[in-house]
Parts: sequence; structure tokens; C-alpha cells
Amino acid sequence: MPTSTLETENPVAQAEHDVVARLLASMTLAEKIGQLQQVDASCEPISEELRVAIAAGRIGAVINRSDPQSCNALQKIAVTESRLGIPLLIGRDVIHGFRSIAPIPIGQAASWNCDLVRKAARVAALEARSQGVNWTFSPMIDIARDPRWGRIAESFGEDPFLTAKLGVAMIKGYQTDHLLNPGAIASCAKHFVGYGASESGRDYNTTNIPTNELRNIYLQPFRQAVEAGVATLMTSFSDLDGVPATANKPLIDGVLRNDWGFDGLVVSDWNAIKELIEHGLSAGPRDAAMEAALAGVDMEMAGDAYASHLESLITAGLVPVHKIDAMVERVLRLKDSLGLFEQPYVDPQHFPPLLSPEALQICYQMAVESFVLLKNDASILPLNAETLKSVAVIGPLADAPHEQMGTWVFDGQATDTVTPLQALRDRFADKATIHFAPGLANSRDRKTALFDEAERVVRDSDVALVFLGEESILSGEAHSRADIRLPGAQSLLLERLKALGKPVITVILAGRPLVLGQDLPNTDALIFGWHPGTMGGPAIVDVLFGDQCPCGKLPVTFPKSVGQVPIYYNHKNTGRPPIPAEIVLIDDIAVGAKQTSLGMSAFYLDDGYQPLFPFGFGLSYGTFELSDLWLSHSGLPADGTLTLQARITNIGNRRGTETVQLYIRDRAASLTRPVRELKAYQRYNLSPGETATVRFSLTADDLSFYRRDGTFGPEPGSFLLWVATHSANGLEGTFELLSA
Ligand code: NOJ
Repeated sequence: MPTSTLETENPVAQAEHDVVARLLASMTLAEKIGQLQQVDASCEPISEELRVAIAAGRIGAVINRSDPQSCNALQKIAVTESRLGIPLLIGRDVIHGFRSIAPIPIGQAASWNCDLVRKAARVAALEARSQGVNWTFSPMIDIARDPRWGRIAESFGEDPFLTAKLGVAMIKGYQTDHLLNPGAIASCAKHFVGYGASESGRDYNTTNIPTNELRNIYLQPFRQAVEAGVATLMTSFSDLDGVPATANKPLIDGVLRNDWGFDGLVVSDWNAIKELIEHGLSAGPRDAAMEAALAGVDMEMAGDAYASHLESLITAGLVPVHKIDAMVERVLRLKDSLGLFEQPYVDPQHFPPLLSPEALQICYQMAVESFVLLKNDASILPLNAETLKSVAVIGPLADAPHEQMGTWVFDGQATDTVTPLQALRDRFADKATIHFAPGLANSRDRKTALFDEAERVVRDSDVALVFLGEESILSGEAHSRADIRLPGAQSLLLERLKALGKPVITVILAGRPLVLGQDLPNTDALIFGWHPGTMGGPAIVDVLFGDQCPCGKLPVTFPKSVGQVPIYYNHKNTGRPPIPAEIVLIDDIAVGAKQTSLGMSAFYLDDGYQPLFPFGFGLSYGTFELSDLWLSHSGLPADGTLTLQARITNIGNRRGTETVQLYIRDRAASLTRPVRELKAYQRYNLSPGETATVRFSLTADDLSFYRRDGTFGPEPGSFLLWVATHSANGLEGTFELLSA
């Protein structure tokens, strides 16, 4: 695959290229290397050192500047004071909103709603571009199977199919269908590749990913991001089987560029090139620069290995100059695609205002659809607002405007955020009394001093709405936790409140799946609300009172205990899959286990083999039943289409939303395949008694994987399928993929 498209028949592309070709031809080596340098520009005010470096053509991109005055000022230095007048890429971590903050990505993933995810990214892009930012470091499409890992908050969860779909939607939201469109920004799919597999969920830890897993799980979302036209990719901090991702030539140069034909920009993570020294791969910064450049990293973020050493590496013939030209061309081409040569400056007047009603409406809807109803005993939810006279609002997350925005919020402001407490006060005004007692100072608080007040308030109220979870800083980069139960004394608080005999409704706002087994008995209903962002308060209140119906589905498995981690739905069967009848728990230990390996299977003596909540799980206010599975064929011709139908009926007494999921299993293949793989899903909103026909189709393409010989394709043979409402149930069918 060519890295240069200079030879093109297309006159528009030719004209676009002319500016790039012209510049490349006139650049000094120092100016070329300058384009490969991204620096931190967060200094306040813009430092003389930064001004001089930009004017000298030593900087191609900045990060961490996000107001129009200073972005325009930086562009002005680049355009008017540097010899060639090349504008800057201005990057920012716009991860789930700029000023209008949508739910954290794992929350967005729980919506399973690509169109809404795209719209939320469009809101973020418009706001960011209006302030001068033209490049976001999002989406993070790392597969995340370990809830201890703080960055699971930034992920779309554990499934490659769902992650790829949502990642592509987010990329399209940022970039639109053309980067020249007003308010489009360049997207960056990260972290290439395997970061989510950090051992034991400890951030930055080593990863060891076998080839089969790498190809079939971790690389899949990246491949689809590339096919969807993502402009840039970021390499991972992590070590991958002995070769850190930032120096991994077979992956960057090989898989990404040669196999997939990616011709966009590859940027390192923050100082990750020099971290090759810490990894123990490179003896010093010069070696590190050589490794990264030869591997295919075009731009260095916040480090100076390229700036200090590329010139001498080229002179010594260790890095070929044509390689540098290709790297620089990719940077210039991105600037050109963004229209920066024509218009490097931004005028916020040409954009919708920050926090526009439309933006906030999308954040609100995204929050509504991110909520996952995990428990609803006796259909206690939705609450009837008409009959309530008094409501107790308890918990450290009930009125924590900063915390509910979640991780990676640089430009969102707590003062813009509507908390659940505020939304309840707005909703009820003088119609019911709202009693607020946080019970704990923050989510980590271990003191019980405020419990009495919380209990008193609950005694005086018709219902307790309890907002628990994690503060925003307990997840995100470098914020992994080994114990993922509710922190502090929150579980104890819940237990004490439940003992009062009043209805207890719990809403958990957190950045990761939590271990909730001890808390479930202490609440009548439980909504998992992730960190829902600016509009989280009104969204949650509208769901609690039935103006909106919960429809979220878990994008990641919730374990019973940390000891079960990693636990994910698309695991392998093993040679000894669990036999439920064998697992007889007495005093929390399975005593059916004999001192023999005969007949024993893969489970924990204390925690069995099932999670607390499986991937794909989520209740609604309706109750749904699937029936009448029908398959068009028992044998699927290699070039044919298998059509499936089933019926879904709302057998409950309220309107509700169900996401019907299609899973398959390849029963025997050249490589062992997961026990289930998500292949499609469809959402239904039905009134009580209403039935709809569910239709899915499958072709051999949907059954393809990287096979034992390294090729990609399907293998004939027997398959199971399930039409299901989560990854551990469903109507089962079987079919045969016929040989071509
Ligand atoms: C480090 C993070 O790993 C990456 O995701 C982020 O985009 C950069 N820092 C820039 O802040």
C-alpha cells in the first residue's frame, strides 16, 4: 500500500496535494522534523520558548490548548512567523464531550445506540472546533475485560463487535463524512494495540496477548476504524509480548500500514517514545527515536527524542530520509484535509454556542440510554410522582456536580452540571418535600458520623433515593483499583437505610463495573448510571419517575468478586466446561468437589463460574419474552444468507424497550472459538401485550475469523446460534455452514 498518493488522476486531490508536495519540496530537514513534534502548550501565558519554537518551524502540533484566543494566537505565530507558514494541529483529549459533557464512553456503550453515540461526538466536535481544537484523541477502542483497570471508563467494554460499531460511530461523529465540513475534527483511534489487556488491570502494565486473541479480539475494532476512515491512530504505552507497541514494526508498519492500507497519521502516546528506555527496549533516546521511526510512528507526543535525534539518525543512514518524507507528508496531508492551510483561525461566532439546548438535549438522551436497570423488585420502578409526599435523597453522589462528569473532563464545568438532587428539587418544587442528607462526605469516606442524619431523613420520607458510587478520580488513566466494591462506608450506609423498612432505590454512578453482591439485598431497585455527565440529574430523575424508560444493556460483564476477573462472555469453552449440577454450595464453598480430577470442571469452589450480571444484561419497565425461533435454512450455502426470525412479546404491564441480541458459536474450527460471539442486535419498544417479529440475517462473512493458517475467512461446519436478551440466555438454534 503506498504511503504517498502524490500520483493521482483526481484533479481535486491533485490540487490538495500540490500544497503538500510544494511544501515538502521546500522544507529543510529541520523543518521536516519540526512537523513530527507535538508539544504540551498548557503553559499560561504562552511561553516565549514555545513562541520561538513555533516561529522557528520546530513544532507541528500542540496539545492542551482549548480557547479560541490562544489557539488563534498559536496559529498566528505558526502562519505568520515561521518561514513556511504551516499551521498547527491543535490536539485535545475531548473524550466524551467538550463543554457539554455526555456520559463516559463505557456509559455510552451501554446504550448500544450507534446513532446517538455519533450525535454526541458531533456535539463534542462542534464545541471543540469552535474553540480552536482540530484533533481529538478519541475514541479509545481498547478491548477492556478487567474492571480494575481505571481506563475501562474510557472504553466501550469487552466485546470487539460492539466496540467496533460504537468506535466507528464516534469517529463519524467527530469527522463527519469529510474533514472539511464545518465543525469536523480529526479523530484518533487508540491505543494501538492491546493496552486494555494490561495485566491484573494495573494501568501501564505489561500485556501478553497470543496471536489468535490479538487478531480476533484486540485488532478488530482498529481494523474497522481504519476501514471507516479514521484520520489518526495513537500507539499504546504498553509492552506487547516483549516489544512495546510504540516500537512494534510488525504491527504498525506491517498490519496497520501494509495489510490494512492505513495512510493516516500515527502519533505516539505521551512521551511513549522515550519510555522505550524505561521498558528496557532502547538504551537511550537516540535508539528509542530510531525504533519508533522505523516501526512507523509519525509524530512524537510530548517528548523530544525525534527533535533531538532524528537528524543524526538520518545522517548516519539509520533512518532513511524517504521514511521521514512519508511521515511529514502524512502530517501535512492531515492539515490540508482539515482545511488549515486555507483557514487556520477559528471564529466561535460561526458555530453554535457552547452548551446549546441541542447539545444538552443530546447529552440528556445519551445519559437516559446509558442507564442499566439491574434490579427492580416488584416493579417498584417507575415511582409514581403523584403519590409521593416526601423523598429522602441520600448519598455522596446525589449532589456532586464535578464527580458525575467522570474522568477526562478538561473543559466541562461543574457549574454547568445538573445533579440528581437539583433535578429532583426542580421537578417537585412544592409538590413534595425533598430531604437531603449525603450520609458520607464523599465516596471514599469511611466515617459513619453522618449516618444518623441520613437515617432520620429516611424515616421521615416515603422513599429513599440513594446515590452511591465512585468519585470521578477513582477511574480513568492511572486510576486502577484492586478492590472494586463500593468504596468507603457506602455499603454499610445502604445496609443501615434498608433496615429502616422504607423502599430503597439505589443509583450507582461509577466509572467501572463494581462488585455489588453484598449491596443487592439492601436495595429494592438498582440502576447503574456510570458517570452520566452534565445532564445526568434530569436524565436519572426522568427514568426513576417513568418519563423515560431504561433501555441500557451491559457492555461488560459484572463479576461476583475480583477473584473471578478476568471474566467475559466470549470466553473459550475449555476441555472441561462447568457442569452446574456439580456445583453444590455449602457455607459458600462447593463441596461436591472430590479429591480427584475425574469429572471435575472449570469453576470456583466459592464463586462458581457465572458472573453477577452477564454482558448484554439490562431490564426495562416492560417484561419481554422471546418465542418461535425460525431459521430459513439448516444448511447455509457459502454465498447464501441465513434469515432468522423470532417473536418478542412484552408480557409486562408497562411499555418497555428490549434489545434483542444475536449470538453465534462455531462448534469446531481450526482454532477454538468463543462460546458465544455477538453478531447483531436490534432494539424494540413495545406496549404491554404487543408482539414484534425479530429478524436477523447471517452470511459466511459474519462467521469469518483469523484462522490457524493466519488467513481470514469462515470455516464450514456446525454452528449454534441464540436469539437472546443477554449473553447467558436465549432461544437456541443450529445450522451448518456448507463448503463453497
Ligand atoms: C496519555 C493517554 O494514554 C492518552 O490516551 C492521551 O490521549 C494522552 N495522554 C494525551 O493526554
